[in-house]
Amino acid sequence: MSKIGVGFIGAGGIAQGQHMPAYARLSDRVELVAVADVNERAARTAAERFRIPHVYTDYRDLLRHEEIDLVVVAAPNFVHRDATIAALEAGKHVHCEKPLARNAREAREMVRAARQAGKLLHVSLQWRFSGAAQFLYKYIVEEGSVGEIYYARAHALRRRGIPGWGDFIDKEKQGGGPLLDIGVHILDATLWLMGYPKPVSAFGATYTKFGNRPDVVGLMGQWDYTRFTVEDFAVGLIRLENGATITIEASFCANIQGDEFNVLLLGDKAGVFADPLSDKPVRIFSEYNRTLYDIQPTNIPNVNSYQANVEAVVDAVLNNKPAPIPGEHGFYLNAIIDAIYESAEMGREVLVDTSLD
Ligand SMILES: NC(=O)c1ccc[n+]([C@@H]2O[C@H](COP(=O)([O-])OP(=O)(O)OC[C@H]3O[C@@H](n4cnc5c(N)ncnc54)[C@H](O)[C@@H]3O)[C@@H](O)[C@H]2O)c1
Repeated sequence: MSKIGVGFIGAGGIAQGQHMPAYARLSDRVELVAVADVNERAARTAAERFRIPHVYTDYRDLLRHEEIDLVVVAAPNFVHRDATIAALEAGKHVHCEKPLARNAREAREMVRAARQAGKLLHVSLQWRFSGAAQFLYKYIVEEGSVGEIYYARAHALRRRGIPGWGDFIDKEKQGGGPLLDIGVHILDATLWLMGYPKPVSAFGATYTKFGNRPDVVGLMGQWDYTRFTVEDFAVGLIRLENGATITIEASFCANIQGDEFNVLLLGDKAGVFADPLSDKPVRIFSEYNRTLYDIQPTNIPNVNSYQANVEAVVDAVLNNKPAPIPGEHGFYLNAIIDAIYESAEMGREVLVDTSLD
């Protein structure tokens, strides 16, 4: 196979803003075949912009195309499971947006369907491809330069960043609030840099203090506060099977100085503080000969993570490689986040169910 046919389910913000341009840039290896969106105008606009010949309002029609090898699921979270499983059953590979699903039950079904179909299921956690993340992966995981990581603190915090569009404030459609929507990115980066140890249990709390009020300013658009059913802040403590722990804090809205996206990793040789999602400096802290020292790498390559993510998927499909970011990792993330939400309701530590069989 020298060229793959791609179909898009969902033609909204991320599809038109990132996926379609990224796939379109690979015109030597990729043919954009069809787009499906329940909003016909969105589908038609995307089709015109990116010269996609076939337009549908029902993704089942798109899945009938024999020329489509890979389906990009870029619809809201409540669509991910059904669209992904239908695509896999139609014999297509799937590149699914994050979070993989609203919850681990749905994610488990998706991973099983991919295994059964023998097709690739890739999760769009594109920040793994950033220059900082790639540097850190080599430094930490491949070279072991920070030693054993026994603790990590992950932050995905927005001061006034409740999305004013889409379904992001709707628990039923999304599955969760900031912990699931943006926490999933930093939690993935953290686990990946720790070698993806299996999660064991979680303890957490969630709060809704702003999203359901009419008097709070929206810096990412003004949302409908009467429809706000997710948390606006969440905190979790996660135990991993190798004895390490992670704390995560995620907010759409909080009275903090500013937005913060970063991870602190404590190893027994060195510590690392980094924002794998931006070009802010990576900092490494250690001691040599009873002297403390810091390292600040310079000229970390500025990578377009979205493009690199898409290139990795295309390469995997063309060359029969496994998914660059496997569905299993998306499932673990859903399982951890489920446990934090359940713990917040129960008021006690909850086991993370990572069984896939
Ligand atoms: N990887 C990232 O950094 C990143 C960034 C933004 C969004 N996302 C994810 O992408 C997904 C979509 O987010 P968005 O910001 O593009 O939302 P959006 O609301 O802008 O777009 C979603 C589109 O899906 C369409 N849609 C709804 N139901 C559908 C169905 N059954 N079949 C086909 N299309 C359907 C909607 O009409 C809309 O056009 C979400 O899962 C979100 O978490 C990921």
